[in-house]
Amino acid sequence: MNYIPSAIRYDRMPYRRCGRSGLLLPAISLGLWHNFGSVDVFENCQEMILGSFDLGITHFDLANNYGPVPGSAEETFGRILKNDLRAYRDELVVSTKAGYRMWPGPHGEWGSRKSLLASLDQSLKRLGLDYVDIFYSHRPDTETPLEETVGALVQAVRSGKALYAGVSNYPADMTRRAADLLASAGVPLLIHQPRYNLFNRWVEDGLSDVLLDVGAGCIAFCPLAQGLLTCRYLKGIEDGSRASKPHGFLKPDQVTEEKMQRVRALAEIAANRGQTLAQLALAWVLARPAVTSVLIGASSLQQIQENVVTLEKIHITPEELAAIDAACRL
Ligand SMILES: NC(=O)c1ccc[n+]([C@@H]2O[C@H](COP(=O)([O-])OP(=O)(O)OC[C@H]3O[C@@H](n4cnc5c(N)ncnc54)[C@H](OP(=O)(O)O)[C@@H]3O)[C@@H](O)[C@H]2O)c1
Repeated sequence: MNYIPSAIRYDRMPYRRCGRSGLLLPAISLGLWHNFGSVDVFENCQEMILGSFDLGITHFDLANNYGPVPGSAEETFGRILKNDLRAYRDELVVSTKAGYRMWPGPHGEWGSRKSLLASLDQSLKRLGLDYVDIFYSHRPDTETPLEETVGALVQAVRSGKALYAGVSNYPADMTRRAADLLASAGVPLLIHQPRYNLFNRWVEDGLSDVLLDVGAGCIAFCPLAQGLLTCRYLKGIEDGSRASKPHGFLKPDQVTEEKMQRVRALAEIAANRGQTLAQLALAWVLARPAVTSVLIGASSLQQIQENVVTLEKIHITPEELAAIDAACRL
């Protein structure tokens, strides 16, 4: 396949400044947590990545352990980079992370210097890259001194294996300490990656203020609550959906009647705005202070295309916001 990207790929996607850095991220970014592993159909992965790039999605988010099998999402992305996107490397922002369990023994997870730097080398090999744009500490590690974890991020940047440093899932106070430590080493905290969606607003309990204060961006993961905040489950758990897959992180018992009641009310508000529920859910996250980009997942290019249409209508009126909050409290 000789891929030629769309000539109009930069015409419609807004690019937003990541905190007070020089880096611009697309309002919608694509994550490869699910549906890009060795268990998935390669041609579908390729169609989603190239179709995203054609839509102006320049940021692709990975982690060492994404699959299944762990590591295979990086290999899939590396293959697509090599075959189709090599000439466009400088148009792409590729991120990866280390912190969750990746290999056996005491060094295959958490936040030691040993684990983080070995993992980054492994990721670069799987991706076939000399550097990633963003390297994250994937989760806080209260057993390792924060100075050591941050020191590994600084080393990743100084060695040229990463251009920027990020943290994910860190609580507000630890984020501020990490930002201070990074700043004193001359490597600003670029970004935080928290879970953030209509059903999960923990970011608003302090983290958002810290990010605005230290000048870091925020990329919201699971903005669609793994598919719950779409029409995916309105008729039950369909074959092929995340909740139907044995390796899916959304379990059937999380698709509760209580949640579906809220989902139906939100879908009605979305319909009144002339949007789908997925589009409303993404518009809501994009309108939050501190949010730079929403990090979606997908199982088809069609879903990504639907989600990008969100950008045509992201303004939400105060009346709609009140109705949304009431629906989320049902
Ligand atoms: N840092 C962390 O700890 C962490 C944790 C989790 C995720 N992440 C990042 O965040 C990314 C996104 O996470 P996520 O995949 O859970 O995000 P999500 O956007 O909340 O959920 C994605 C799922 O929603 C469904 N979907 C998407 N668009 C749809 C549409 N228009 N209509 C119907 N269904 C739609 C698809 O489900 P089906 O597959 O069922 O079709 C898709 O796989 C990950 O890939 C990863 O990069 C980071």
